[in-house]
Amino acid sequence: MRRFLLLVSVILAAAGALVLSLAVSPWWWCAAGPLLALTALGAWDLVQTRHSVLRNYPLLGHLRFLMEKLRPEMQQYFVERNYDGRPLPSMRPVKVPEDVPTVRVGGPDCTAPYDMALLNVSAMSFGSLSSHAILALNRGAALGGFAHDTGEGGLSEYHLRGGGDLIWEIGTGYFGCRTPEGRFNGREFADKAALPEVKCVSLKLSQGAKPGIGGVLPGAKVNAEIARARDVPEGETVVSPPYHQVFTTPRELVKFLALMRELAGGKPTGFKLCVGSRRQFLAVCKAMLAEGVTPDFIVVDGAEGGTGAAPLEFADHLGMPLTEGLITVRNALVGTGLKDRVRIGASGKVATGSDIVKRLIQGADYTNAALAMMFAVGCIQAQRCHTNTCPVGVTTQDRRRVRALDVTDKSARVHRFQRATVKSAVQIMAAMGVSDPTDLTTGMLVRRLDPTTVTPYAELYEWLAPGELLRQPPASWDADWRAADPDTFA
Ligand SMILES: Cc1cc2nc3c(=O)[nH]c(=O)nc-3n(C[C@H](O)[C@H](O)[C@H](O)COP(=O)(O)O)c2cc1C
Repeated sequence: MRRFLLLVSVILAAAGALVLSLAVSPWWWCAAGPLLALTALGAWDLVQTRHSVLRNYPLLGHLRFLMEKLRPEMQQYFVERNYDGRPLPSMRPVKVPEDVPTVRVGGPDCTAPYDMALLNVSAMSFGSLSSHAILALNRGAALGGFAHDTGEGGLSEYHLRGGGDLIWEIGTGYFGCRTPEGRFNGREFADKAALPEVKCVSLKLSQGAKPGIGGVLPGAKVNAEIARARDVPEGETVVSPPYHQVFTTPRELVKFLALMRELAGGKPTGFKLCVGSRRQFLAVCKAMLAEGVTPDFIVVDGAEGGTGAAPLEFADHLGMPLTEGLITVRNALVGTGLKDRVRIGASGKVATGSDIVKRLIQGADYTNAALAMMFAVGCIQAQRCHTNTCPVGVTTQDRRRVRALDVTDKSARVHRFQRATVKSAVQIMAAMGVSDPTDLTTGMLVRRLDPTTVTPYAELYEWLAPGELLRQPPASWDADWRAADPDTFA
């Protein structure tokens, strides 16, 4: 309870000064007045619902706002963002459309297509986030009609309580649909995938902040609720392996996706990855062609993406940044003639309308945001996610700290953030002369290479034509295309 030490000290001092001012000398009012005012402020901090940090740290929390003026955490986030590309305004803008566009996700084998918003809540598990944070994100998604990815930590009661549309993600731990030995449990998966809140199912292969490694949830965080959501023993440290047991080759991966879609009753099924080797991704495309099976969506996560916890070397040095990963996946799908069947999602420091527009131009059909959504539910980047002492109740499982996060207030913020950001994207597109995102072209984004050279993306990168890899692969793709084997990732 050290969090309340300052308030308690102020209350005791105020009481002392009050007694002295009545019993000894009225001069004590000079001390009692300010101390009583501070006591009232501390009491207000405890009951207000707008700032979680003040609810958890009455009085002391005000220092945070002072520090923010010196070095705002949002500013730090934005400064570190990748200013990759500048959308070009048109000399003939169009009227901003009344209806916000959505993207239909669901290829030929999907029987329950889903209309995805241009910006959604990216995967973050219950466990890495608190119950209130999950609930606020989910209610925000329900208010705004966008999707909320569960993350790989299972489908918890908090994901289901807010009424938001869910993308249920499973990772290498198959949490929420696993046998006691940690293997995939198809029957449990089918039962949960049938829930009406689950609109899509997703297989996580890797994530930008830590490609190639699994995750660890410390035993201290594995309370009864988390254990229930994940199908794991309470209080024991949970480890997700670095690789999947359900497939060893690109062909097996594609077949497993087909099985997932079948078990999910035909709901849109996809996978998420941080792109590594282009040849491996082409091997997966070859497997899709050979098996006649395509995922309904692929989410490309940039190496710049965040996480609750990742070794610094992995976070900083592995995987393709979003621009390269996105363009690789777009080209591979277009070049193999598969793009019409597969939607591409993009995540990695998406926080503004122009971020959305840039990613759409680079090949995405929609975007997801994790860190920006965490800011919306009150994250102040205290960077204590792994210690269970998050000061604003976002990443802790400590009930006393979680209560500081007011779900009603924060879900409204999540809703407003998503709505304003998408609206801004739509306004930017209108200024570019585009009312439908599918009319965006790679010539509409430019990058300054040096003080005198500004180059459009159409020239900066290679953009494959539909079916080009099948007809005549360009020289730059030929070696990878020929080496790609649907029966091995080697
Ligand atoms: C707290 C936290 C937990 C995350 N958990 C997952 C997860 O369970 N599964 C997953 O695929 N990605 C997870 N991610 C990665 C995000 O979904 C996203 O891909 C990445 O953070 C990039 O987006 P951003 O830059 O908007 O944060 C997590 C990220 C954060 C910050």
